[in-house]
Amino acid sequence: TADTEQHTLFTSSSCFWVAVLQGQVVGIVAAQGREDDNTVELRRMSVDSHFRGKGIAKALGRRVLEFAMLNNYSAVVLGTTAVKMAAHKLYESLGFRRVGDTEDYTLPGMTRSLLERLFFQIRYSRYRLQLHEE
Ligand SMILES: CC(C)(COP(=O)(O)OP(=O)(O)OC[C@H]1O[C@@H](n2cnc3c(N)ncnc32)[C@H](O)[C@@H]1OP(=O)(O)O)[C@@H](O)C(=O)NCCC(=O)NCCS
Repeated sequence: TADTEQHTLFTSSSCFWVAVLQGQVVGIVAAQGREDDNTVELRRMSVDSHFRGKGIAKALGRRVLEFAMLNNYSAVVLGTTAVKMAAHKLYESLGFRRVGDTEDYTLPGMTRSLLERLFFQIRYSRYRLQLHEE
């Protein structure tokens, strides 16, 4: 947004942005380049609950897309376990397509006890935005 400052921390393959409004951090997002399949993973998207619905996440998401384009990656990918509509609407409005849902009891890198498995079922949705062919 026009009155939001954005600060950048980066290396050649990854980058982290914070959105600042009146001296306060109100949103974050990270981009992590993956050389094996030439994609960028969008990670850690989050906007302070008091500042939602103002286009801040969309502006942060566009930074990730711009980073991917400038560095010649072929696609941007992400995974989310969000149950609320907001995250799904956000990614669709940025041009992502949902490429798969996994109904699972665990997340990558996470283990659960048998008791926890009985109570929690996690839906993990993957999204992809193709920038250009390989
Ligand atoms: C998801 C989240 C980052 C959105 O942040 P935001 O700054 O409020 O989003 P924006 O204002 O940029 O909105 C982007 C789009 O999403 C839609 N959207 C945002 N909040 C919405 C809501 N509560 N319900 C429906 N749509 C919503 C907007 O309509 C907009 O689409 P448009 O451009 O077509 O109008 C924020 O709600 C959040 O931090 N949620 C908790 C953490 C989370 O779920 N992170 C993502 C996990 S992968």
